Amino acid sequence: MFKTWEEIEESIINCQKCKLCKTRQHIVFGTGNKEARLMFIGEGPGADEDRLGEPFVGRAGKLMDLAFETLGIDRKKVYIANVVKCRPPANRNPEEDEAVACLDYLRNQVILVQPEVIVLLGSVALKNILGKEYGITASRGKWVEKKGIKYMPTWHPAALLRDETKKIDFIKDLKKVVEEMKIK
Ligand code: URA
Repeated sequence: MFKTWEEIEESIINCQKCKLCKTRQHIVFGTGNKEARLMFIGEGPGADEDRLGEPFVGRAGKLMDLAFETLGIDRKKVYIANVVKCRPPANRNPEEDEAVACLDYLRNQVILVQPEVIVLLGSVALKNILGKEYGITASRGKWVEKKGIKYMPTWHPAALLRDETKKIDFIKDLKKVVEEMKIK
């Protein structure tokens, strides 16, 4: 556990804890307000994120930005990170050993940010943060409270690109977050 952002960022610079280090262009550490009340956790960087070093800047990110705009969520006020910090080749899901190797960084980020609410974007975030017994279809839209943090699982924005009907759920789930946090 690192006590400061400087320490954790320093520690990750040359990370070789898993095989994703061999194919990455950039480590995508996380972005946003380091004292955010609201945090979003995705799966792992895609091609655009790997190229630019920032989470959710590709097609899925653009869709998330649109939802933020609709709901009055200011991207600069939230903190956004992923389960794995390096791109899994060909956008496959992170493998178990990769997620396990990387999760200490994410746990450390959560401890430093101290968010009130965490939105878990998709199955990989849900299972790695709350446990393998959770499934996204049954869990999305339902609050889970653990150790003083409220979690809202929802679809991963990339799933909305594949299935338009999921957009309604996604907005509904984020609306619950906005209402809970009295953002508007
Ligand atoms: N998908 C993710 O899970 N994270 C990103 O940063 C981009 C796409």
